Amino acid sequence: MHLETLPRFRLAQLPTPIERLERLSRELGGPELLIKRDDQTGLALGGNKTRKLEFLVGQALEQGADTLVTAGAAQSNHCRQTAAAAAKAGLKCELILAGKKPELPNGNLLLDELLGANCHWTERPQLPVKLSQLPEQLRGQGRKPYVIGIGGSNGVGATGYVLAMMELTEQLRATQQRVDHILFASSSGGTQAGMVLGARVAEFKGQLHGVSIDKDDRKSGSYEEEVAQIANECAQYIRTDGRLTKQDIKVVYGYTGEGYGVVSNLEREAIRLMARSEGIILDPVYTGRAFGALTDLIRKGVFKRDETVLFWHTGGAPALFAYAKELA
Ligand SMILES: Cc1ncc(COP(=O)(O)O)c(C=O)c1O
Repeated sequence: MHLETLPRFRLAQLPTPIERLERLSRELGGPELLIKRDDQTGLALGGNKTRKLEFLVGQALEQGADTLVTAGAAQSNHCRQTAAAAAKAGLKCELILAGKKPELPNGNLLLDELLGANCHWTERPQLPVKLSQLPEQLRGQGRKPYVIGIGGSNGVGATGYVLAMMELTEQLRATQQRVDHILFASSSGGTQAGMVLGARVAEFKGQLHGVSIDKDDRKSGSYEEEVAQIANECAQYIRTDGRLTKQDIKVVYGYTGEGYGVVSNLEREAIRLMARSEGIILDPVYTGRAFGALTDLIRKGVFKRDETVLFWHTGGAPALFAYAKELA
């Protein structure tokens, strides 16, 4: 493994804290609950993308890029964090966003604009096409774009979560804390891929459960395959042995409700519960859904009372303000 020699541009405040959710554990009458605060990574209101972007931007700078190009939903946390990383690295940022430009920018979109990103709007199915066309146009203008795929989920980006698992196991070792299960939101797969590979590297013995935010692939196992492939790409990038297969990837299905970004009672109740019992803010799209899944699993008795479950907060709260109508 050669993690120290990989190109990396520091963006995150690390290590992120681990907190005990004592009131919540008591209220749910379930296992001991901990939370890992990756909403506190520090870059433009934080989130999981900061860790990925340290390695993606590191590679962009090494390749002499002058512009970061990426794509996502109008309320993409990934796009907001990419815009912030570009600003900090002295790069330009071009964002391709799904949908129509709203009259008044809000939430992440407001931040994209404040951070100086140039936003291009397109219909959702056109995102991948635009993501291949725009860099060509920029090259034609003499620019040097570095393209980051949706969610920053490739072997390079996932490296951030290999290190995150090493960070976590070190924190647990120092406090002699055991963790039996880790639960988190999973969508484009880079976070889960890095965590699963990192768990292997750091010899973490607990189980990792990625809560699917936007798909139900339990029959085909194609999402598990995708995550394993990103993890293997990452293993090659950081030069570590061992291949992962889809059997190594555990995805929790059944909580996608009416689809990506559609807020239901599950998210509303989870956000209120966390806010009112611990003073911690979740987001409407990812962590609200993942934590809603966790509370449901606890109520169903999936975890034993003497086990410890760590909820990995992956950020996203800026999107709350764009969902005021659905949440109020
Ligand atoms: C707040 C938040 N949590 C979790 C995720 C899921 O991470 P990944 O796309 O790496 O699976 C995202 C991705 O967009 C996110 O913005």
